[in-house]
Amino acid sequence: MEDKRKFYIETYGCQMNVSDSELVVSILTSAGFQHTPDYNLADIIFINTCSVRETAETRVRGRLTVFKTMKKVKKGIIVAVLGCMAERLKDKLLEEEQVVDMVVGPDAYRQLPQLLAVAENGQKAINVLLSKEETYADISPVKLDENGISSFVSIMRGCDNMCAFCIVPFTRGRERSRAPQTIINEITELSKTGYKEVTLIGQNVDKYNWNDGELNFAQLLEKAALIDSSMRIRFATSYPQDMTDELIYTMAKYPNICKYIHLPIQSGSNAILEKMKRGYSRQWYIDRINAIRKVIPDCAISTDIVAGFCSETDQDHEDTLSLMEEVKFDFAYMFKYSVRPNTYAARNYVDDVSEATKTKRLEEIIKLQNKISLEANRKDLGKTFQILIEGYSKRSTDKLFGRTSQNKVVVFPAEKNKIGAYVDVIITSCTQATLNGYSVIKTLKQT
Ligand code: SAH
Ligand code: F3S
Repeated sequence: MEDKRKFYIETYGCQMNVSDSELVVSILTSAGFQHTPDYNLADIIFINTCSVRETAETRVRGRLTVFKTMKKVKKGIIVAVLGCMAERLKDKLLEEEQVVDMVVGPDAYRQLPQLLAVAENGQKAINVLLSKEETYADISPVKLDENGISSFVSIMRGCDNMCAFCIVPFTRGRERSRAPQTIINEITELSKTGYKEVTLIGQNVDKYNWNDGELNFAQLLEKAALIDSSMRIRFATSYPQDMTDELIYTMAKYPNICKYIHLPIQSGSNAILEKMKRGYSRQWYIDRINAIRKVIPDCAISTDIVAGFCSETDQDHEDTLSLMEEVKFDFAYMFKYSVRPNTYAARNYVDDVSEATKTKRLEEIIKLQNKISLEANRKDLGKTFQILIEGYSKRSTDKLFGRTSQNKVVVFPAEKNKIGAYVDVIITSCTQATLNGYSVIKTLKQT
């Protein structure tokens, strides 16, 4: 019998890509290929790529040079680029990077076996067609995570928002929701195999809409929460304009829906928000935060911030800093603006904030957020949180780590606790990034 051809897959960028790579593994395993976590053993190398910022693309280009060197020695191997860079660059990628044999966009993964047949014949293979329907709803992803505790479940694909700076609508196509029953089935299966946490993912989960209003996101979330009360449900990403009160009340109603919302603001300046085409104002955003905190006082909130968008003045930047002070995010992902070709901003605005100013503003944003994160963590000192244990601490095998419902990382002595279990931990110290404590489960059990 012929040995199965082995493939390796490397993933960059967002959670969506993690989940897409799991679909790719599923599609190829069903077609008779074998997955290997070691690229030295692989006949086929996949890189699932991200285009959201220029730095993400640069990293992938660097990786391609590594595989180019490898290909000189191992002549027969196939190198395939998947995901957003494939979709953005299309056949240009084949011209620019000689090492690449295959270019496959995010809606064409079902075609991978056929495309591989072409590539194995010595021809270049490409499929970058976007689809209005494809959700891969019927495909059970092969889980690639290491802990078997926490997993992503894709509930929708694409994005119709067209924020001026963002490449995603161009690389991932139109918004479409996955059939609810297939989502429920996938979560049920994960629960049966011992998973304790799922994160429902999409570019804008608040726009989940099955069959023209038959089921909205809040209703889907409720269905997910009811599957297994010992399973934590998270979701990402929310959008300020679309996040409903119904969603907030649903979160409050179910203890197993985690009290954490990622709600990207991008900028604290109304002028910049308008230029970004975000569709909400600073005040609208603050009102949403107040609505969350009124109903769920212990809800953690994180955000995305972009520094140095086109025409951003010192005053606009000050507005972002003052918004951060006002809202007090528990955590933030902070970026320097980078022009993405063909976006509205690239076509209509001038990238006129200098690199030095972008860097300076980003540093100020990061410094302020670090201070706010530390203050937020200090408020947790002395409190007890239920932690889902995810693994051993990177620094010491005597210690475990897990997360609170609010998504904060907690490190504590391992003792007899096991990965995948829930444990109550009292917080005794913290940094801006981590809470430290000790587990109180033994004493609780003895009394
Ligand atoms: N709704 C998506 C957002 C995807 S992009 C989600 O599911 O998270 C993630 C973040 O990258 C955005 O919120 C934005 O802060 C940042 N980003 C997007 N385009 C960018 C660009 N051109 N330059 C810098 N940061 C960008
Ligand atoms: Fe991008 Fe805005 Fe959609 S940031 S992913 S276009 S919500």
